[in-house]
Amino acid sequence: MMSRRYRLKWIILAAAMLAMFQTVQAQNTAPQLGKNNVKEVVTAMTTEEKVKLLVGMGFNEDIAGLPGPSEEDKKIPEKVQGAAGRTHAIPRLGIPSLTLSDGPAGVRIAPIRKGDTAKTYYATGFPIETLIASSWDTAVANRVGVAMGREVRDFGIDILLAPAMNIQRNPLGGRNFEYYSEDPLIAGKMAAAFVNGVQTNGVGTSIKHFAVNSQEFNRMQSNSVVGERALREIYLKGFEMAIKESRPWTVMSSYNLLNGTYTSQSEDLLTTLLRNEWGYKGFVMSDWFGGSDAAAQMRAGNELLMPGVVSQAEDIIKAVNDGTLSKEQLDRNVERVLNIILLSPSFKQTAFSGQPDLKSSAQVARETATEGMVLLKNDNNLLPLATAKVALFGNASYDLIAGGTGSGDVNKKHVVSLDQGLTAGSFTIDDELKQTYMQFIADQKAKRPPTAPFMMPPPIAEMIVAPERLQKLAGESAVAIITLGRNTGEFVDRKVENDFTLTSIERELIESVSQIFHEKGKKVIVVLNVGGPMEVASWRDKVDAVLLTWLPGQEGGHAIVDILSGKVNPSGKLATTFPVKYDDVPSAKTFPGKELPGAKPFIVNPFAGVPAEALYDEGIYVGYRYYNTFGVKPAYAFGYGMSYTNFSFGPVKLSNSKFVDKVTVSVAVTNTGKVAGKEVVQLYVSAPKQKLKKPESELRAFAKTRFLKPGETQVVSFTLTAKDLASFDPATSSWIAERGSYAIRIGASTAKIDLAKDVVVEKRRKLMAPVNEIKELVPGASASRR
Ligand code: BGC
Repeated sequence: MMSRRYRLKWIILAAAMLAMFQTVQAQNTAPQLGKNNVKEVVTAMTTEEKVKLLVGMGFNEDIAGLPGPSEEDKKIPEKVQGAAGRTHAIPRLGIPSLTLSDGPAGVRIAPIRKGDTAKTYYATGFPIETLIASSWDTAVANRVGVAMGREVRDFGIDILLAPAMNIQRNPLGGRNFEYYSEDPLIAGKMAAAFVNGVQTNGVGTSIKHFAVNSQEFNRMQSNSVVGERALREIYLKGFEMAIKESRPWTVMSSYNLLNGTYTSQSEDLLTTLLRNEWGYKGFVMSDWFGGSDAAAQMRAGNELLMPGVVSQAEDIIKAVNDGTLSKEQLDRNVERVLNIILLSPSFKQTAFSGQPDLKSSAQVARETATEGMVLLKNDNNLLPLATAKVALFGNASYDLIAGGTGSGDVNKKHVVSLDQGLTAGSFTIDDELKQTYMQFIADQKAKRPPTAPFMMPPPIAEMIVAPERLQKLAGESAVAIITLGRNTGEFVDRKVENDFTLTSIERELIESVSQIFHEKGKKVIVVLNVGGPMEVASWRDKVDAVLLTWLPGQEGGHAIVDILSGKVNPSGKLATTFPVKYDDVPSAKTFPGKELPGAKPFIVNPFAGVPAEALYDEGIYVGYRYYNTFGVKPAYAFGYGMSYTNFSFGPVKLSNSKFVDKVTVSVAVTNTGKVAGKEVVQLYVSAPKQKLKKPESELRAFAKTRFLKPGETQVVSFTLTAKDLASFDPATSSWIAERGSYAIRIGASTAKIDLAKDVVVEKRRKLMAPVNEIKELVPGASASRR
């Protein structure tokens, strides 16, 4: 007979074993992502698990004032050190963690890993997006996407946080270098081509920053105040195209408020427009620490909060418990995230090497850089240059600025400087001058205070070169090259003085080099190694040639020499205007916005700034739309760029003279010069002005020819639909092509087509209107809003 005590012990043991068995069984029978359908997986999740999935694992960089991961998450090793963020895994249900990494010019990860000193993890630094857009060639954007996506995959990353595609509204925009253009058609087409390229590798993208994030000033608390028409035609259109033409896995909402509501909390933007109007099927993530109300973000359809903060998870659970966030809304968000996880390499357990083929990417970086450089001036065909001795001036000649700073930066193994590129290209440079510059740069850098993480180091002033030395150099060298450098980066907008304009030493350098070299019959070339437009009108007449190289990526020095030497014939055109002076910019008076006195901060973090407002009162007259409509002559116009050959355009031919549904436009392009090259074909439409005012003309299509030999002709065709002719009418919330005569211009040739009556292309809902009416700029007699 068992004693009572002994029996009790047995009962307790048996009960414990049964409980254990049941848990194991529950685990085994819990639905598994991929094996069971997504809805079953969602049903099996606890509220805590759902919220875990929707709030990232926290910010791994240790920056004072920014919340970090939970203690529990800190213990989970990162799959890819230095990646911008990751999502929570839920192993019980077969849900893996996703790894997300910046950015637009290449994969941003830690090049050296803790606990792994045997290998390095440098990634390729590609040229900036502004350069890619200046190629006006979607095939170039696609090729960069394919190459970058391969690195994303090989590093074991799931989603690349790119492309960035906000409008370059003002030349001082701090992140313009990460964006494509002042024109939404170029931004949209380039982004779509890039996304399609990246995603062929089985990894995802995040088009960002959705939307109207065209300034950095107080960026986490700045309200972009924009009229409905400008919103649709300028700031949303590129995103719409990218969504429809490339299906990016994710969209990143922006930091700013839009007409009073945080974009990440705007149901109008993220659900009514993005999902219902545009048919978007992926998920939306917030920008890092963006927004002020986690539950509102969830309701609006901002499915993932990045990098994720513990208090956000608590707030969402609270909202579920008190009913302010419904179970349906929560489940909908979880489902959308799971649907993308199903596509990811982490879910598919795709093997990855951690060691991408950097050599082939470097080749893509070099070729791309040559495609987007813009030859601005070339008096008496100074360029291309035969190999000769070069006197090389300017800090950036020896310390090339390959890319911008912040999250758009890339940890690249090397940067090919211009002096290295020239030497590799069989040019000779003055070695003594090189040594002086190298010493000067090293000394100046040593004097700089340390730069905070992500921030841009202050620029180094140019060195003064004594006239006697210039005399000697002018005697000994065939030509002078002066490189002017401008870095640019996240968090801060650029300034007019000494950034948009030249510094006094730069002016003096151009002045003295030009004078002394010209006296000796030697020519002067300026290389602009810059992230955005700058003032050129006051000094360009002093020099013989100007080459805009942008921030050309790690192979920049080679690429510049490919152009200077004529190995590659330049074919880049400006996708952003170079104004004569800053005051000519339509948003000169309202950019970057103003702080709102006395307003209470919505959020407090070291990068948040204070509440501010950016009034976009130039309306649709952004970039060239302003200059051409208001008759303001820029220094170098949108679409401008020279070649070493000449092209002629034949007459514009139309398939019909009356517009019904669509029209085919064709033009013959002939290389009439002496060397082979490519030409950009830009199609502009001047629309009739009935009820709506219109810009003088707008870019409605573009293409690049193939490589044409001298004498060779290519016929390029475009098909325009009514949407391509339409404007957005805020009074009726519709896209409308108004009746009348449309002038279609390519090069110097124009053809006209008639539209018999108004065509309403799309009827939409009124969305995101400004709270108070904006007094916008309008062309005509009263050409002012101020
Ligand atoms: C930037 C994003 C970036 C994110 C992650 C933010 O500061 O605005 O563009 O993707 O950081 O690094």
